[in-house]
Amino acid sequence: MDQKKVAIVTGAGAGIGKAITIRLAKDGYVVVVNGRKSSNTFEVAKEIQDAGFECIGIVCDVSDEQQVDEMFAQVIQKYGRVDVLVNNAGVCPVRGLDEITSGKFEQTIRTNLFSMFYCSKKAAEYMKRQGGGRIINAGSQSSFRQNPQMIEYTTSKWAVRGFTRALAAALGPFNITVNSYCPGTVITQMQLKNAEEYSSMMGITVEEYFKVRFKEIPMGRAQTPEEIAAFVSYLASDDAKNITGQNIMLNGGHVMC
Ligand SMILES: NC(=O)c1ccc[n+]([C@@H]2O[C@H](COP(=O)([O-])OP(=O)(O)OC[C@H]3O[C@@H](n4cnc5c(N)ncnc54)[C@H](O)[C@@H]3O)[C@@H](O)[C@H]2O)c1
Repeated sequence: MDQKKVAIVTGAGAGIGKAITIRLAKDGYVVVVNGRKSSNTFEVAKEIQDAGFECIGIVCDVSDEQQVDEMFAQVIQKYGRVDVLVNNAGVCPVRGLDEITSGKFEQTIRTNLFSMFYCSKKAAEYMKRQGGGRIINAGSQSSFRQNPQMIEYTTSKWAVRGFTRALAAALGPFNITVNSYCPGTVITQMQLKNAEEYSSMMGITVEEYFKVRFKEIPMGRAQTPEEIAAFVSYLASDDAKNITGQNIMLNGGHVMC
């Protein structure tokens, strides 16, 4: 019998990552739910197992290379392969230049970018031996524009674009595709925290803030985590085997490039 394909999703204890993990489990992958916090990581893993799918939860801070190496060692020991890596984990601090210390700057870049390098390097090692694979990165609408209150985030997400392209060029000859999904507005803990900060800066309520924001979006609404997950599912599928090096906006047309 063919061995099931294995997908690792980082930052999967909540939000978009959780939706991606559930979708890939339904698609037939054995899924690895990675998270920084044990509570939500194991909760999501249990939810997927209870629905009858094969899954494990691994707590690991993906901004720490040693922890990433240990996570991959655990996955390989248990399942022997990695077919899809979704580098989804990220943080989005809202603060002005005066509030950013070099330590805070480094931590954001480490979480949003170095994590992708650590995980992708390890995944590529196994994917090369297996004859192919898929690396799918979380970019953002912020990979294409600038925000004065999100200097660290903007920097990291523009770098994700470059990383995605360069890695795609490097790994194409090994039948490994590398792409990024770039959401605009998805109502998750991250988006709600940001909305609270922006609405208080603007002196309006969170509901009013979203009304203003949705007016700027041609499709007039937020994207759902499930819509993002459906696109990731496509990128992971055989139908997308010749798509690589692309950073694709999933934002209802909010910013068009
Ligand atoms: N929500 C949006 O509107 C939006 C828009 C553009 C891009 N994105 C990107 O999509 C991804 C997911 O965002 P979300 O909205 O679901 O965020 P979220 O905050 O709801 O969830 C992110 C998850 O990542 C985990 N995480 C953070 N640092 C980690 C680390 N070092 N190791 C392991 N896990 C870690 C968090 O604990 C959390 O569970 C992020 O990369 C984000 O930048 C989101």
